[in-house]
Amino acid sequence: MSADTTTETTGFLGWIDKRFPLTKVWNEHLAQYYAPKNMNFWYFFGSLSILMLVIQIVTGIWLAMNYKPSATDAFASVEYIMRDVNWGWLIRYMHSTGASFFFIVVYLHMFRALLYGSYRKPRELLWIFGVIIYLAMMATAFFGYLLPWGQMSYWGAQVIVNLFAAVPGVGEELSVWVRGDYVISDITLNRFFAFHFLLPFVIAALVFLHIVALHRVGSNNPDGVEIKYGPKGNRWDANAPADGIPFHPYYTVKDIVGVVVLLALFAAVIFFWPTVGGLFLEGPNFQPADPLKTPDHIAPVWYFTPFYAMLRAVPPMFGSQFPGVVVMFAAILILFFLPWLDRSPVKSVRYKGPLFKFALGIFAVSFVVLAYLGLKPADPLLTLFAQIFTALYFAFFLLMPWYSKIDKTKPVPERVTQ
Ligand code: HEM
Repeated sequence: MSADTTTETTGFLGWIDKRFPLTKVWNEHLAQYYAPKNMNFWYFFGSLSILMLVIQIVTGIWLAMNYKPSATDAFASVEYIMRDVNWGWLIRYMHSTGASFFFIVVYLHMFRALLYGSYRKPRELLWIFGVIIYLAMMATAFFGYLLPWGQMSYWGAQVIVNLFAAVPGVGEELSVWVRGDYVISDITLNRFFAFHFLLPFVIAALVFLHIVALHRVGSNNPDGVEIKYGPKGNRWDANAPADGIPFHPYYTVKDIVGVVVLLALFAAVIFFWPTVGGLFLEGPNFQPADPLKTPDHIAPVWYFTPFYAMLRAVPPMFGSQFPGVVVMFAAILILFFLPWLDRSPVKSVRYKGPLFKFALGIFAVSFVVLAYLGLKPADPLLTLFAQIFTALYFAFFLLMPWYSKIDKTKPVPERVTQ
């Protein structure tokens, strides 16, 4: 089944292999890459993230063939794509729906890491690459949202770029530097387009590093058992981990199941409900940007709203929004420290104690509630809720060194369970 690395290849493949390590790479990363045999459906979301990245890059390039990054033409060029370009509506809806699906898939992928302690030693760097990818994804989505030059594009960008103005001292200059103008304008649109085009390729390079780091240490699994240190010898290789199976064909075929389910859901949204009631495509964005008319209620797309709710939850200090900006960025940057905050002797939630399970549950609920609150116009009661859930979000991280240490864990088995 899996070709042995020592076998000499012949013919055309042999010609390639003498000049490029094709068979070697295929074997080391697929046919003879031994992944734990107990990986469950949570492990679909890594390969599905790659699929979404590819869909976004391909549809994005095709959109760029007809899109015009100028304040006078951008909105009309999107309408032209929707109405006149052959299959343009499909490409555009694939790209707009794809952005939300990409975030759904990546949020589930990250949650899996929290469940099974995949961020823990020896996978800290793999996790850090992941957090950098997440930051790059957020930047890409933010730049992309200005491009249709609708009302929400314009005013959303206005609100977020204005946050830079809250930085003490240099704020004003900083926000003008980011915009390239005193307000969001044609100049801003042009540079956002340039970054929106570039960043997905940076993400692709980061994904490569993410996978290199993964293959250096090997995949974790739902038991959090390191198969590398367990017994040796499976039916393919006497030196391979006994609990490992070749990634190809076993997981490549398993991943097809995830791909089929994802594409079915993706098609259902694209064909039947591309706006998802204003969640994936917001109502005001069907009107062209009007710098003289602020929409009644400005809210970012759902994948940003947990952080937007945190921004609004923090009261201004001396009339400055800076504390809110700090809290919002801290909420993301704290992820970098996670590998060192968790002091539990075990990795997987299966063997962690009730304190961790409770904390993780509260954290997940807080994230979803904050996402909801970020979509709603602020009022005193909702702001109070946002403050409570922001505190709970941070408590998950800041109290982790304490509760993960005193928690009552269960013994971890020697080998993975089925
Ligand atoms: C473009 C986005 C991303 C892509 C394409 C991607 C891809 C992958 C792939 C293919 C795997 C191996 C399969 C799997 O374990 O599911 C993986 C593993 C992993 N990823 Fe990502 N990833 C992305 C974003 C992230 C983010 C944002 C994080 C965390 C902040 C992250 C953290 C991890 C961790 C910790 C593992 C190891 C999981 C384990 O072995 O249990 N990834 N990633």
